[in-house]
Amino acid sequence: MTTISIIGTGGMAAAIGSLAARAGHAVELMGRDAGKARALAEQVGPGTTTGTFGAAPAGDIVVLAVPYSVVVDVVKLYGDGLAGKLLVDITNPIKADFSGFLTPDDSFGALEIAKAAPDRANIVKAFNTQNSSVLATGPVGGHPLDVFIAGDDAQAKARISAFIQSLGLRPMDTGPLTMARSLEHACMLWLGLITHSVKHAYFSIGVSLQG
Ligand SMILES: NC(=O)c1ccc[n+]([C@@H]2O[C@H](COP(=O)([O-])OP(=O)(O)OC[C@H]3O[C@@H](n4cnc5c(N)ncnc54)[C@H](OP(=O)(O)O)[C@@H]3O)[C@@H](O)[C@H]2O)c1
Repeated sequence: MTTISIIGTGGMAAAIGSLAARAGHAVELMGRDAGKARALAEQVGPGTTTGTFGAAPAGDIVVLAVPYSVVVDVVKLYGDGLAGKLLVDITNPIKADFSGFLTPDDSFGALEIAKAAPDRANIVKAFNTQNSSVLATGPVGGHPLDVFIAGDDAQAKARISAFIQSLGLRPMDTGPLTMARSLEHACMLWLGLITHSVKHAYFSIGVSLQG
């Protein structure tokens, strides 16, 4: 069992928190609105706790489930409280009108977060290519959903992979943290598919193994 802290109380916090609680992990929810955190804790399930927004999280794994536009400030607010934690960056730094990225051309979201965090090695990009409703509903047709990950530290990636697998999902390592840029672009791919092909958001991007 892992203790996982989730910063944020929106759709992704609900989806990942519920999967984690169902898998037997201890879940702590932290949101700027304590009432929302308590309400989500009730929804996620018995034993789910809430923590004070900005105070050191209880979990060894900390999921950053806030918009990219605020995540760097949130990481700075937590400061040394995040030291030694495995930080999971699920954000998509995409402009509200989907016209491009919020990050500088020579950077990407996970790198900007890494610069603000106490320890770059412990950052893993994950979950950003899975839609919260799809995650919440779970796999269709017996095929586990793919969760792409990127990070620089093999041990951190092994830990997050084991956690993802415990949720009934399939971890797919894509390489070092620089690959997070590609994962952030994959969200743009997903948005393009919604608009031009699929016409709805209830689908997931994954790997289809041909033998
Ligand atoms: N939705 C998806 O399907 C999906 C898929 C993959 C990745 N993601 C990424 O996952 C992250 C969370 O997405 P979501 O869909 O869960 O978003 P959401 O439902 O809009 O929830 C966002 C959370 O962030 C909090 N928040 C917003 N501004 C804040 C601030 N200035 N300081 C502190 N907390 C703040 C919100 O608090 P309040 O409720 O108090 O406003 C809420 O708890 C985003 O980075 C998103 O890009 C989303």
